[in-house]
Amino acid sequence: MNRVFIRTYGCQMNERDSEAVAAMLRARGYVIVDSERSADVVLLNTCSVRDQAEQKAIGKAGYLAARKKRNPDFVLGVMGCMAQNRGADLLDRLPDLDLLVGTQKFHQIPDHLDNIMASLRAQGPRPSTIIDLEAEAGSQNTIRDHLFTSEGDHAHDASAGAGEHANGSRPKQVTAFISIMQGCNMACTFCIVPKTRGEERSRPIDDIVAEAEELASRGVRDITLLGQIVTSYGRREFPFVDGKSPFVQLIERVHAIPGIARIRFTSPHPRGFKDDLVQAFRDLPKLCPNVHLPLQSGSDRILRLMNRPYTRDRYLEIIESLRRAVPEMYFSTDIIVGFPGETEEDFEQTRDIFERVGFDMAYIFKYSVRTGTPAAEMAGEVSTEDKERRNQVLLDLLHRQSLARNEQLLGRTVEVLVEGPDKVGRRLSGRTAGNRLVHFAGDARLIGELIPVKIERASAASLVGEVV
Ligand code: SAH
Ligand code: F3S
Repeated sequence: MNRVFIRTYGCQMNERDSEAVAAMLRARGYVIVDSERSADVVLLNTCSVRDQAEQKAIGKAGYLAARKKRNPDFVLGVMGCMAQNRGADLLDRLPDLDLLVGTQKFHQIPDHLDNIMASLRAQGPRPSTIIDLEAEAGSQNTIRDHLFTSEGDHAHDASAGAGEHANGSRPKQVTAFISIMQGCNMACTFCIVPKTRGEERSRPIDDIVAEAEELASRGVRDITLLGQIVTSYGRREFPFVDGKSPFVQLIERVHAIPGIARIRFTSPHPRGFKDDLVQAFRDLPKLCPNVHLPLQSGSDRILRLMNRPYTRDRYLEIIESLRRAVPEMYFSTDIIVGFPGETEEDFEQTRDIFERVGFDMAYIFKYSVRTGTPAAEMAGEVSTEDKERRNQVLLDLLHRQSLARNEQLLGRTVEVLVEGPDKVGRRLSGRTAGNRLVHFAGDARLIGELIPVKIERASAASLVGEVV
């Protein structure tokens, strides 16, 4: 009765939230299992950023609901962004849900499940759906428990959302995400996140540093600071000190933790790249030379329609200033093709800047209408064929750029943080500071170490080398 399977759709924030829910449930005596078949309870942690991600989760929930007909004790819950976005209306599509929990209520899930389990044991009439979607002050401070999990503790469906990130949940965990804030106060006209995630709320620096220290003491070496708009971290809560933003102060504090070798963050906003942050890349060796800098479009006209407060020139300036600070910097980005009214000339501007910057990695999205956002009301729908073609043009460019950048490493020796066995299990894998994936033969005792690897083969996606 107490085996729970959590399936996660979407971004790293969702993954981190699922980990926290799993940890809280384990502390209550639930067992987290790695397949829905063996579970008594299935929780879907959902994504709303594009329609496809919502449809996937709805499809899955519908399929699982059928199981309740055979097994009346089976419990099904939907949590996270789609629960927040669609609210109780979701029950029109999925009347058999036991639980519908919003993005500020993850920490209530153990109580809710306990209640459901108690009424199942009492064998009374089946309780109606528990709906918990309110905003809650201080909820950003609840996503914090890091319990170490075994492989496959919860499945992740990367194709549904912002992309894949290799955060192995392995016996010896080398990399970890720390959620530093929730919500976003920007109003990009295409984006549902401000609705699903609410207002910006930041955790105190001391709490985050304590969590990082705890992780370091258990062997974590590589930390990614996570939030919807991390460059706005603490903007309203905490003061600037010596001209440094709260975000830069936070990075400096994490940087001072001895066991931590590498620090990354995602996602920032271009607007947050002031001198203090650029300076941090120059001064702090643990701050990795890879920046994810969402561009969305290379056309000033489209950027204005998107309500993105920068121009292509300003974006290029930021790239230049970061390259001056760290010449070998790796850049990744998010692009939307087919925003309403995007013409061939607009797209050409995007293609041009994509090539000029030479992005090493990118998530390229076809615009998806999100009901309730300003862009949903805009004229100039772009045809599916045009979106598809523009998408393909950028994917081809990305493939070439990524391959060229990896080939530059051929014959060179790079420092790799060993994360664990690779997918096939015969070799080890790890990442360079620039976040390139490297495979090599080696002993499992190397996991968690920084080692020199000589690169012998390169593809667009990964490198193969030999430990020196
Ligand atoms: N700052 C957040 C953004 C969340 S959405 C973060 O990265 O965590 C992630 C990406 O999805 C955005 O950068 C954008 O490129 C894409 N996206 C958001 N809304 C979209 C929509 N309506 N259609 C297509 N792509 C979208
Ligand atoms: Fe979305 Fe823009 Fe915030 S993309 S998450 S509204 S910065």
